[in-house]
Amino acid sequence: MKKLFFTLLFTICMIGRMLADEGMWLPLLLGQQVYNDMVKKGLKLTKEQLYHINKPSLKDAIIIFGGGCTGEIVSSKGLIFTNHHCGYDAIASASSVEKNYLRDGFYAASLNEEIPTSLSVQFLVRIDDVTKEVLDSLKGLSGAERVQKQAAVLAAINKRLSKAEESIETRVSSLFKGNQFLAFVYQRYSDVRLVGTPPESVGKFGGDTDNWEWPRHTGDFSVFRVYTDAAGKPAKYSKDNIAYKPKWYLPVSLKPLKDGDFAMIWGYPGSTNRYESSYGIKLATDINNPTLVKLRDARLKYMFEEMKKDPAVKLQLASSYASIANYWKFFDGETKQLLKYDVYGQKQKAETVFTAWATTKPEYQTLFNDWAKAYDAWRPYAKHRVYMSEGIMGSPLIAFASSLMQLESVLVRNSAPADIQKAAAAADQARKAFLESSNKVSDEKILATVTRMFYEDVDKQQHPVTFYGTLKNQYGALDNDETYRRYAADVFAKTMIFDNTRWSAFIAKPDAVLLQGDPAFAHASTFVSNYNSKYGPLSQQFNAKNAEFGRLYLKGVMEMDTIKAKMMYPDATFTMRVSYGNVKSYQPRDAVKYDYVTTSRGLLEKYKAGDYEFDLPAQQVALLKKKDFGQYMDPTRKDLVIGFITTNDITGGNSGSPVLNNKGELIGLAFDGNYEALSHKLAFDKDLNRTICVDIRYVLWCIDKLGGATRLINELTLAK
Ligand code: ARG
Repeated sequence: MKKLFFTLLFTICMIGRMLADEGMWLPLLLGQQVYNDMVKKGLKLTKEQLYHINKPSLKDAIIIFGGGCTGEIVSSKGLIFTNHHCGYDAIASASSVEKNYLRDGFYAASLNEEIPTSLSVQFLVRIDDVTKEVLDSLKGLSGAERVQKQAAVLAAINKRLSKAEESIETRVSSLFKGNQFLAFVYQRYSDVRLVGTPPESVGKFGGDTDNWEWPRHTGDFSVFRVYTDAAGKPAKYSKDNIAYKPKWYLPVSLKPLKDGDFAMIWGYPGSTNRYESSYGIKLATDINNPTLVKLRDARLKYMFEEMKKDPAVKLQLASSYASIANYWKFFDGETKQLLKYDVYGQKQKAETVFTAWATTKPEYQTLFNDWAKAYDAWRPYAKHRVYMSEGIMGSPLIAFASSLMQLESVLVRNSAPADIQKAAAAADQARKAFLESSNKVSDEKILATVTRMFYEDVDKQQHPVTFYGTLKNQYGALDNDETYRRYAADVFAKTMIFDNTRWSAFIAKPDAVLLQGDPAFAHASTFVSNYNSKYGPLSQQFNAKNAEFGRLYLKGVMEMDTIKAKMMYPDATFTMRVSYGNVKSYQPRDAVKYDYVTTSRGLLEKYKAGDYEFDLPAQQVALLKKKDFGQYMDPTRKDLVIGFITTNDITGGNSGSPVLNNKGELIGLAFDGNYEALSHKLAFDKDLNRTICVDIRYVLWCIDKLGGATRLINELTLAK
């Protein structure tokens, strides 16, 4: 009895410790222990209210928004809240210089005025465990063979569980690095309309300066609606479609927040790698991250120069610029935090413990030795890989030209005329999209700059064989910017991609030699072929091994500590997760304490009239100065709360996620992580990690007081 008591006590303590706030839990597999811990922390909902296999539950209000965000249903008429930065591309696309919704904001006065977009949303229908089927088919396989077989098996399951007529799409997710496989069945709705957005000065207040940082004052929200056909089924856009009738929608709370309040976040975190090896950390901080940051620095500089000059260019490049800038700052911050907290050293320590345990286990004995060898073999080429994706392909012209290699291969294979025609038509279509988004001035500068950076930074042994020699002969010294400038100018002047007449002639009669002679195509093809023929295969080999060692390591970790294994959550894989924690202040560094909310006072302190990042609409400044907060005022602060922070474990993909109180009422939208914990993809910091949220009362204030869209407020269920 006594012994049992001790074991129990020990287990409880362990769980108490492990259950900090770390964890992105699968709602389907929410174990009783995790659920109990949520209740202990304050949750008032039953497990069935959160997630039920066939009855409506909270999970039915949570959607995949667009390509990589989360949204939530907030009314009985399919109204969606998500982040401004998630709606950004759709808002920019709906805008013109005359009707500049990105700059000025927009609220549809009625359903009729809601603007069609090219976005779709996906609802999770169910989750099937297919682990046994997958693992049985992979028995005895390793390396490239296993990678291929796994891809084939997953594709077959996806196909089997999908139904195009009903817009049912299935995607099997590999969890715990390939130790578990779950099939996520979704239903996609493709009529999604823009309902409202604040002006960019509100929705992106603080811009890239404040991005990934607390204290924050960004009104990062936008409003959409999902439509169905008259029968309530998914349908393409039609003016006859009707507003979606949800199974579940979230009530909205106007109640004040306190430090320590329970907070739960649902959504689609994209990726984490919490069991990354020390070798992976080192490669990231030594090579991968700094190379990406350096190349993005250059690209962003030239894009920004043009965006500042011309509102039309700003609209054209804004969305692409925002996403490049977002992860430019992320990876810079990640490197700094990984080094500051010595995550490399922490991982090494854990690996030493593992290796000691593994000495008697043949399956794991040589794991870390083999893993080190794989990294050593790949390391000399790692920079080249980043140069391809972030440098060579960093020029939009070259990225588009490289897509024409598809057409080239059809042509040189002497394919059937019908196949050639199909490939040519696809290329023609892709060119239209490219031209719409193309800004020649910045692109030409990017091409010149990255071509020189590649020359100087990538190991000369790995350069495309004759490229730089020819460049020198034709354009001059390779240590002179002028050489690259003149070369890039020639590529842009002479390519047929910008020349409608020559392009149309080519598409009418596609010819491989003509294509190969095009300077933009030749540039792309030279670098891509060089990489693909020599280094691509090494990269694939490395990835296959790295995945295999990663899977083995995680399997071993779970074997080594079976108590911990029961309480482990899988890395984020852009599948639905729930995380829970508290609204909470923190200490970012010695002697500094950060409050858990920001208010309109701070917004006005940051406000700088006419500034690119810190401007505000005049009407907003006036209303805030008058303290016209209406029912959205926080009674304790006597102010309008703008943002708040929680201890929840989230990552990119969770953007737009609902932050819920203990009753499942919406208190905010998650939109960012804090700078002090930017190492969060690789290591969760239990003291410093915070999720940055926009307070729902500020969202409603913007819609109501600033936007005058009371019809939207009337659609919501408000909890006071
Ligand atoms: N860092 C946030 C995210 O990844 C917001 C990004 C948008 N803002 C920006 N300034 N680029 O979700």
